Amino acid sequence: MGIYLDNAATSFPKPDVVIKKMMEYMQNIGATSGRGAYKSAIESDRLIYNCRKMICKVFNGSDPAKVIFTSNVTEGLNIVINGFLEEGDHVIVSSLEHNAVWRPLKTLERDRSIEISMVDCTSEGITDYNDVEKLIKSNTKLIVFTHASNVLGSIQPIREIGEIAKKHKVKFLVDSAQTAGAYPIDVKKDNIDILGFTGHKSLLGPTGTGGLLINCDITMNPLKSGGTGGDSKYPYQPDYFPNRYEAGTPNVAGIVGLGEALNLIYSVGIENIRKKEEAIIEYAIERLSSVEGIEIYGPKKSDKIVGVISFNIKNIEGEEISYKLDSQYDIMVRTGLHCAPTAHKIIGTGNTGAVRIGIGYFNEKNHIDILVEALNKIQSNYKCK
Ligand code: ALA
Repeated sequence: MGIYLDNAATSFPKPDVVIKKMMEYMQNIGATSGRGAYKSAIESDRLIYNCRKMICKVFNGSDPAKVIFTSNVTEGLNIVINGFLEEGDHVIVSSLEHNAVWRPLKTLERDRSIEISMVDCTSEGITDYNDVEKLIKSNTKLIVFTHASNVLGSIQPIREIGEIAKKHKVKFLVDSAQTAGAYPIDVKKDNIDILGFTGHKSLLGPTGTGGLLINCDITMNPLKSGGTGGDSKYPYQPDYFPNRYEAGTPNVAGIVGLGEALNLIYSVGIENIRKKEEAIIEYAIERLSSVEGIEIYGPKKSDKIVGVISFNIKNIEGEEISYKLDSQYDIMVRTGLHCAPTAHKIIGTGNTGAVRIGIGYFNEKNHIDILVEALNKIQSNYKCK
């Protein structure tokens, strides 16, 4: 099957229990949720509600109704950015944002005259939270931070930034695309007002799932309007959670799968998942460092990063490395800018990009051995040319 090292893009394989639960739903239930009163429709409602409860359990949210399901974290982040920010508002962001945050903000800067301030970070992607406070102004309405960079893996000081946001009564939105399921998150202790999550990465669910966990009082305009299964005579989107932000038939099969994945993650424990991954991350940093001509970006300490390691090898293009890894060694990695141009600019790879491995729960140390062996061969063959 090859060696899958692209878990930062999406996790693979998916647990058997997740696949089984989705199959069971599709074969035996099949009905949509929130739209019928017959037995299987009610069972669909129950399964969806169960997933909302599991999201609260895993991230310590209080109200399952304040879990909004979307098709991915990008859509969730767009709901907040587009629905909350108004003309003239000021937003503070990290230097490491994915285009899921960066593009909607830049669009609002152009179309709604919002102001964006970017917090500096070190060349390894480490942010000093004191720098966030220095940027707060009277019109600051939102702080948006990735929890961990999808290029450098660097974990951001979320709890401290959340405390600053609270002190200044500014809302705090965290993009947990690279951390949810891989690193402990507690929206209360971490002072997170709104957590954007994706279901298909370290939460081990299917693609097409993600959303928001709202941990504050907030009014946002909905991104979409449409059927919610109730209040049908009311001509506008209802003003209560979660219906205000969920229009149209939900991805029931996906949400059912995500609910089962969350059950699994909760029973294994995110601390244990992190422990396992951290050991592989440490091993990977050590083994990759031995490859001749390699430059590894980001912190070289496993406790400072999630399972994301980017690198280049001197004189060999990243695309060539990933092509050879795939075609000759059946190893899957992702090369390029990873939809995060500002993070690449920080490490000087804004034009060239880098090769990235994404370590996940189902990777083992021997996958790193096979990768390093392949890189050594690619490197020495290149030298012989
Ligand atoms: N955002 C995902 C990545 O970093 C797709 O690869």
